[in-house]
Amino acid sequence: MADCCCCRRSDGGGRTGTAAAAAGRRSRACPALLIVASAVAVALIASLELSPAVAYSSRGWLRECAKWDAPARRFLVSTFFGSGVAEIAVDGAAAPEEREVVAEPDVAGNASVGIAVDRARRRLLVVFADVLGHRHGAVAAYDLESWARLFLTRLSGPGDGDAFADDVAVDEEGTAYVTDAKANKIWKVGVDGELLSIIRNEAFVQRKGWYHNLVGLNGIVYHPNGYLLVIHTSGGHLFKVNPKTEEVSLVKVEGSLQRGDGLELISPTKLAIAGTPSRVAESSDDWDTAKVTGRYIGPMHRIATSATVKDGKVYLNHIIGYGITKRTHLIAEGIFSPLVVN
Ligand SMILES: *[C@@H]1O[C@H](CO)[C@@H](O)[C@H](O)[C@H]1NC(C)=O
Repeated sequence: MADCCCCRRSDGGGRTGTAAAAAGRRSRACPALLIVASAVAVALIASLELSPAVAYSSRGWLRECAKWDAPARRFLVSTFFGSGVAEIAVDGAAAPEEREVVAEPDVAGNASVGIAVDRARRRLLVVFADVLGHRHGAVAAYDLESWARLFLTRLSGPGDGDAFADDVAVDEEGTAYVTDAKANKIWKVGVDGELLSIIRNEAFVQRKGWYHNLVGLNGIVYHPNGYLLVIHTSGGHLFKVNPKTEEVSLVKVEGSLQRGDGLELISPTKLAIAGTPSRVAESSDDWDTAKVTGRYIGPMHRIATSATVKDGKVYLNHIIGYGITKRTHLIAEGIFSPLVVN
């Protein structure tokens, strides 16, 4: 290091031209190297953040889930430790700022995680969980215009065993399905917030042992043909669930869905799976089998956790924001490279 210091040496006079030139080269070499190194780092981060993205500013570090609300032309995001929801209006503003629309006092201390837009009823379902203690879980619904709370249903409390209410999907009748990433089950909640049943099945745990079940049932979507698709994150298993009969089958997937997180249907035959990497899977037999056909890595230092579709394109929410006084968060367009499965 001493030989590579940053400041220009003042050797006084009397040195030979070559020595002075060598010293000069040395003294310039380091700052130049540092500049090159940091330029490479900046370029690397910039290249990871290259795809078109909505970058919005916020006061929070963590934003777990973002869903596009098409009629209102805005993204809705769960504010995690803010126990609520914020909106990001994207049309117009070059650097949009999030606006908090819900901060649920009745579950303060719990994080808001998965959200789902119930389009037919113009309301938003929000899952709350005690993400560190695994003692509390709840789901609530809010009117998308007034943000009035329609219900808040407790799913688990102390004494119910460890649980982690994580993500939610809603069917055309307004029934909500909430995954438990800890105990591998699905709570079924009626349109007015009544707890209807709990879908449990041995099949949800394909491999026993805590290591294979660190994060269990997670992302969930409702398919227009009347079933749920749900992913087990640690196992990378995708399940098809009949919400009426509660039958569960394993989707035979060619390619890996390991560490898959939030889900969103791009079309009835195409599913986006957020994660590192994020992937696209396709099925031509109503999700009895599927193939992983695309992959996108994106800004992996921010960690993609949920997917949504805006104007026909997949957008990936990243949980981690960066910044000194305010955090910048990215909802990046997923540019999937085709993947050939052998
Ligand atoms: C989560 O909400 C429940 C219900 O209001 C509350 O009793 C509990 O203390 C909250 N958990 C945390 C970690 O604050």
